[in-house]
Amino acid sequence: MELRPGPLEGVVVMNRILDDFYCGKKVMITGHTGFKGSWLALWLKHLGADVSGYALHSPTNPSIFDLCHTSKGMTSIYGDIRDFRHLHSTIQEVQPEIIFHMAAQSLVRRSYIEPVETYSTNIMGTVHLLETVRQSSSVKAVIIVSSDKCYENREWVWGYRENDIPGGDDPYSSSKGCCELITAAYQRSYFNPSAYNNHGLALASVRAGNVIGGGDWAEDRLIPDCIRKLSQKQPIIIRSPGAVRPWQHVLEPLSGYLLIGRELYLKGESFSGAWNFGPDYDDAQPVSWIVSSLITLWGNETAWKIDENSHPHEANILKLDCSKAKTVLNWKPNWNLEQALEKTASWYKSYFNQADMLKVTLEQICSFENTFYEKAGLIE
Ligand SMILES: NC(=O)c1ccc[n+]([C@@H]2O[C@H](COP(=O)([O-])OP(=O)(O)OC[C@H]3O[C@@H](n4cnc5c(N)ncnc54)[C@H](O)[C@@H]3O)[C@@H](O)[C@H]2O)c1
Repeated sequence: MELRPGPLEGVVVMNRILDDFYCGKKVMITGHTGFKGSWLALWLKHLGADVSGYALHSPTNPSIFDLCHTSKGMTSIYGDIRDFRHLHSTIQEVQPEIIFHMAAQSLVRRSYIEPVETYSTNIMGTVHLLETVRQSSSVKAVIIVSSDKCYENREWVWGYRENDIPGGDDPYSSSKGCCELITAAYQRSYFNPSAYNNHGLALASVRAGNVIGGGDWAEDRLIPDCIRKLSQKQPIIIRSPGAVRPWQHVLEPLSGYLLIGRELYLKGESFSGAWNFGPDYDDAQPVSWIVSSLITLWGNETAWKIDENSHPHEANILKLDCSKAKTVLNWKPNWNLEQALEKTASWYKSYFNQADMLKVTLEQICSFENTFYEKAGLIE
């Protein structure tokens, strides 16, 4: 395949990311040892960025971070986001230009068991990051990674918009709602877009859907739970077969984060604020649909059954309205849900076949990039 020259500015999103913007940029990721952080670190290294990370050790074993030797070719610093002095001295030393803040206690069900840990990590971690950035002269763009669950859930059929009110019934969701308030307050108090020429920092919060993809081994998340059972040929037990979520491949929101990082850096205040990066509405499907599709893709006779035990409350229906990102940034979803599931199943199959997982992961990143180029007519 051969790339045809021609920028198509305003038509293609990925070429704006894949041009040489990130090459040589000093980019820090908090939470780089986690599922999304590892994919982002690998993608940024592939784009030629000078990547650093600040996080606790990988939260799972196995982990995509270790399987893909993610720490190679980047500066990987192990530290607690609640340790303000350590975070502060790290950022002073590394002098990043762009920061993606992903470090979090990221699981709803664990948040019911460990609310203090969840709130201290997610809320004070975000305060520490923003306060450190306030005292830094190198940082020009900060992207706070929030969640679709940051919105006050009304159990309605419409997608949530960026200006819907933050909330959350459980400790995780409400911690993300709090992060939105904190981010907005730091923006108004210290990084006000109207005073951009004085402070020179642009700040955004980004809200993704339910992310799927290879390399997630978190407890009580649907895809890892299914893969564990599929690989052992045991029945999959699911809690809420009818719960509808905005599913998307991990590279989808990451493409949005990379794009907004670029726009914040280059154009500053006009891109500050909140952004949703979710899938198309057709890809908001019930849990049962995801499980049946994954079983078909896996190709064995595994059945699923409903867990009849009582469980803490989780929302029944959740969708994101991404009109703002589509209209203003010209971002749009790249792989549909079938493609996302196919890539996910194929990643885990490769893992169980003991493949080189760095190679597999980079091939999926390149395939994602190529889909954009193909859609834009840039590949012959
Ligand atoms: N996975 C999803 O479906 C999803 C959806 C929407 C939003 N998010 C958000 O995206 C971000 C990344 O999610 P993920 O799925 O990769 O989570 P993950 O649990 O796989 O990774 C979390 C990362 O945060 C780090 N971390 C946790 N506590 C820390 C602490 N006290 N100090 C420093 N580092 C700490 C971990 O070491 C890890 O690197 C989170 O903010 C999460 O809330 C995830």
